[in-house]
Amino acid sequence: MTEKALTLLLLLPLSAFAQEKTIDLTSPENYANQPIPAYITKDNTPVGNDITDLGATLGRVLFYDKRLSRYDTVSCSSCHHQENGFSDTATASTGVNGTTGRHSMRLINSRFSNEEKFFWDERAASVEDQATKPIQDHIEMGFSGADGDPSFADLVVKLSAIEEYQVLFQGVFGDAAITEERVGKALAQFVRSIQSFDSKYDVGRAQRNDNQNFLNFTAAENAGKQLFLAPPNVGGAGCAVCHTPPEFDIDPNSGNNGIVGSLGGGMDFANTRSPSLRDLVDPSGNPHGGFMHDASLPTLLSVIDHYNAIPAIVTGLDPRLTRPGPGAPQPQTLNLTAQQKSNLVDFLKTLTGSAIYTEEKYSTPFNTDDTLAVVILPTESAEMTFATDGSNNQTAILKATGVPNVG
Ligand code: HEC
Ligand code: HEC
Repeated sequence: MTEKALTLLLLLPLSAFAQEKTIDLTSPENYANQPIPAYITKDNTPVGNDITDLGATLGRVLFYDKRLSRYDTVSCSSCHHQENGFSDTATASTGVNGTTGRHSMRLINSRFSNEEKFFWDERAASVEDQATKPIQDHIEMGFSGADGDPSFADLVVKLSAIEEYQVLFQGVFGDAAITEERVGKALAQFVRSIQSFDSKYDVGRAQRNDNQNFLNFTAAENAGKQLFLAPPNVGGAGCAVCHTPPEFDIDPNSGNNGIVGSLGGGMDFANTRSPSLRDLVDPSGNPHGGFMHDASLPTLLSVIDHYNAIPAIVTGLDPRLTRPGPGAPQPQTLNLTAQQKSNLVDFLKTLTGSAIYTEEKYSTPFNTDDTLAVVILPTESAEMTFATDGSNNQTAILKATGVPNVG
């Protein structure tokens, strides 16, 4: 055997071990007590589903598990990629039975809004309600119970046979029963845990109020912030009435913004919700696909151009995007200069953070070969066989029978 071949042999088991991802339930990642800046006050967490470390951990596993789809091919993360702010660069995302009718939405700071309804058209009453809808969508994950699809009850049977889920549901809910409500709650906890507060804006906002110039901003960024805040009748762009800082969440009473295209052809007037305007672009300044429900605006500048001259009065257009005419109301025109548009773009870019794109606790817990990460149980779990290291040390590793061994 040559020296090279020998080295390869020795390295192989080591690299295989390094790839093995572990979920350690004895010291879970911190989801429940992440620092939230004092100026962030909006929170749509409902009574009865506060984020817990174990609940969000279960939500993370569900979020990345392709087995939640009919043919084990699509997970939530197939259309919500961490490196794209949990959105998708594709205009329409691919599910088990075709492509979506709207562009995927970023899932950053979903928790921090007055608006409790979710989806572009607000058809989900809460994050909990939203979370199981993609699973039951014929196109997205295929457990619709219609059109020849299996039903959610079939998914429950499928997941109940997976030992790791028995351990996780037991740990979170006290018994191993899997229900639609529990799946929704756990997924919602994970989605609400995805928070981004390390942007340039946050550094400035921690020192000053929104209507003061930020110490860490360029002159252009401060001018852009002023335009964002000020209403059109005093020369501003009037964005803040609907995308309210410092959360940049959508006003629950917003109408549509005049973007009425549809990926399926025809018109779509129903879209009155926007995800938070945080992390519109990645840390290098690149958008995560096109903006709006139909991804029809490719750049931040094209977004500003849209609001600068709303194309037409359409059904459902928010009256704040109109101006009084001599007769009927007319579509808004802001008459922004090229410099002002550029300042607004510079400001919107300050809303992007960095940690969220790579942070381990938001990433997939699955190994590259789709095997589930090993679950190490808390010491309280009674039915589990265990082995100590002989030193009476409380860090003894307890493992469920049948769960693959790490060491
Ligand atoms: C096939 C692609 C696809 C899959 C799979 C998918 N989503 Fe989505 N998601 C979308 C699209 C597209 C939208 C916007 C749809 C709309 O508004 O009509 C969306 C919207 C959302 C929203 C609303 C965000 C907001 O601000 O209103 C949440 C939350 C969400 N998805 C979470 C999930 C979860 C959790 C899963 C897994 C159970 C999942 N998604 C699976 C494509 C997908
Ligand atoms: C009357 C309320 C309203 C005002 C004012 C408003 N917006 Fe919006 N905005 C919305 C709605 C509603 C959507 C979602 C529309 C859709 O996708 O069909 C949206 C979407 C967006 C998006 C796309 C988000 C995404 O995830 O793709 C950006 C960016 C945006 N607005 C920026 C701005 C800026 C900049 C201004 C000021 C020039 C502004 N908005 C003014 C209501 C408003």
